[in-house]
Amino acid sequence: MHFYSEFTIFNLLIPVYSNERKPQALSAGQDMKVSKRKKEHVEIALKKDVRFRNKTSGFEAFDFIHCAVPEMRFEDVDTGVEFLGKSLSFPFMITAMTGGYTGARAINRALAEVCREEHLALGIGSQRQIMENGDHLDTFRIARETAPGAVIIGNIGAAQLAQSRDREAFQRMADLIGADAVAVHLNPLQELLQREGNRDFRGVLKGIGWLVKILKIPVIAKEIGCGISEKAARLLLDEGVVYIDVAGAGGTSWAAIESFRNGKSGHAAAFRDWGIPTAVCLETVSRIPQARIIASGGIENGITIAKALAMGAELTGAAFPILKAHADADPGKLAGLVGDWREQLKMVLFLTGCRNTDELRRSRPLMRIHPPDCRPESSGEPR
Ligand SMILES: Cc1cc2nc3c(=O)[nH]c(=O)nc-3n(C[C@H](O)[C@H](O)[C@H](O)COP(=O)(O)O)c2cc1C
Repeated sequence: MHFYSEFTIFNLLIPVYSNERKPQALSAGQDMKVSKRKKEHVEIALKKDVRFRNKTSGFEAFDFIHCAVPEMRFEDVDTGVEFLGKSLSFPFMITAMTGGYTGARAINRALAEVCREEHLALGIGSQRQIMENGDHLDTFRIARETAPGAVIIGNIGAAQLAQSRDREAFQRMADLIGADAVAVHLNPLQELLQREGNRDFRGVLKGIGWLVKILKIPVIAKEIGCGISEKAARLLLDEGVVYIDVAGAGGTSWAAIESFRNGKSGHAAAFRDWGIPTAVCLETVSRIPQARIIASGGIENGITIAKALAMGAELTGAAFPILKAHADADPGKLAGLVGDWREQLKMVLFLTGCRNTDELRRSRPLMRIHPPDCRPESSGEPR
């Protein structure tokens, strides 16, 4: 089944390989700046409207083919899956968000508690600082301390990886949180928009290939909201990454976040809607037979989770909606949200006559209900 077959997918700018360069340690001043930036990202995401403005994830173009004769008991529907050798109650992870400043410890602890209780996977935020000077170690380590049995995924930036071959530092980064896998984030737009951003993406693919070889755990390649094209996915898979987290457009816009950091200066506002909608990423990347896909970017309930699975994803993930629920005054809000998403997924399975998510992925009971126009319904409401 081909979705969006009329789409021509833009060729992402794929960085070319460069010679190895020396790692650059952060100075104390730079380290403070990184901490400040990480704090600002969380605060801006929570205080401002950082959604895409004229583009959605594209899932609204599809609907499920309802099954009027499910021939099963609702209780027998099983949402559970295995991911990286551990059991999840449904195929969902909280994707990378934070670490590296004082307030991040409490956030990562709360997220890890939910993952422990609800049997979900957790990605932690970029571990750059701990690799380079060990600062704010506890803000990352708290995840594993809180959830000893959970799937926990480390995180590092592609640009940094391209510039360092410090094998011990990368191994330490993974060991510190007892990582089950490491995610490499690909964020060329964000780097261009940050005043302090790294504009040199040469050597990213080779760096990822090197990381795959030196680590004993799988490497995941992820975007942060602009999506991964079929061409980019093929290049990443050729380097040995195990999972592609497409992190497509339609949820959090990093250009929007950076536009609030930069004030009116810079190009962030113009690029607010840049990126490949998540549904388009899924349609195209799933054409690659060996691709194991994580769908994130604009996942907002159990129905979008189910659509992503039916479009070829093995796992789904979300960041901002989770952060927002965590920040709510009601301490049970986050657990309630993921419980609702799991229940909604279970309902979709029942209503499409599937006993589990494997059946959903195999039978793909989706229909296109209108051409994707990739525009949000304009409620005008900030989320
Ligand atoms: C506050 C915040 C901080 C983030 N920090 C990171 C990070 O350090 N590393 C990373 O790979 N992705 C980071 N992300 C990106 C998310 O993991 C995710 O790919 C993106 O937000 C799209 O998902 P969403 O639409 O569910 O928010 C961050 C997202 C948010 C909202």
